[in-house]
Amino acid sequence: MFHAGWNSCLADDDCHHGDDYRYPGNKNQHYLAPVTNPVYKETCGACHFAYQPELLPAASWQTILNNSADHFGESLEIDDDSRKGIAEYLQANSADKSGAKRAVKIIRSLGSSVPQRITDIPYIREKHHEISAKVFERPAIGSLSNCSACHKTAEQGIYL
Ligand code: HEC
Ligand code: HEC
Repeated sequence: MFHAGWNSCLADDDCHHGDDYRYPGNKNQHYLAPVTNPVYKETCGACHFAYQPELLPAASWQTILNNSADHFGESLEIDDDSRKGIAEYLQANSADKSGAKRAVKIIRSLGSSVPQRITDIPYIREKHHEISAKVFERPAIGSLSNCSACHKTAEQGIYL
């Protein structure tokens, strides 16, 4: 398991001190806001974890939606109403609009680049670079994209 060192407070700003615990929904919160939009959750959580909007900038979400006919090899069927609702939800809640600590770090590490993968974000790559390839070969994990396989509280927006 990867529990060893998981919560080791080596870098001070990555620690979870009791007194800076903040509930999702507040500005400058520690955690990401959980997915609340039912259409997004159903449509974009059908094949994989429904990633929180705060994990990518608005421009990335827009690109992903624009490319839905070739979504990493899949063609996404989304009706116009759903597409509009999903786009609005993602735009309003994207990383660049967030004060959450992880979202701020994501934006800072991206500069002006517009990735279509969360797993291409330098900050995210750096946080996972010590995980051995063997771990990803486990069927229950498969790839770094499978956030909730390792982060048991990912759905609540809590990445410990
Ligand atoms: C194979 C298991 C695994 C997968 C899959 C995975 N993570 Fe992680 N993640 C970890 C481990 C281990 C750490 C390091 C924890 C530490 O620093 O002690 C980590 C760290 C992080 C951190 C930094 C936490 C901190 O306290 O600094 C974030 C944010 C994060 N992961 C987000 C994600 C997201 C988003 C995804 C999916 C795109 C993801 N992770 C997929 C295992 C995983
Ligand atoms: C038909 C299945 C399917 C549906 C529905 C789907 N996706 Fe995906 N998605 C994929 C596949 C396949 C990948 C690539 C996974 C991989 O390479 O491991 C992917 C990858 C992603 C990634 C990159 C993950 C990473 O590696 O960082 C994002 C972001 C994403 N999808 C967003 C969305 C959004 C937003 C929607 C809804 C509009 C959506 N997906 C709906 C199949 C789907």
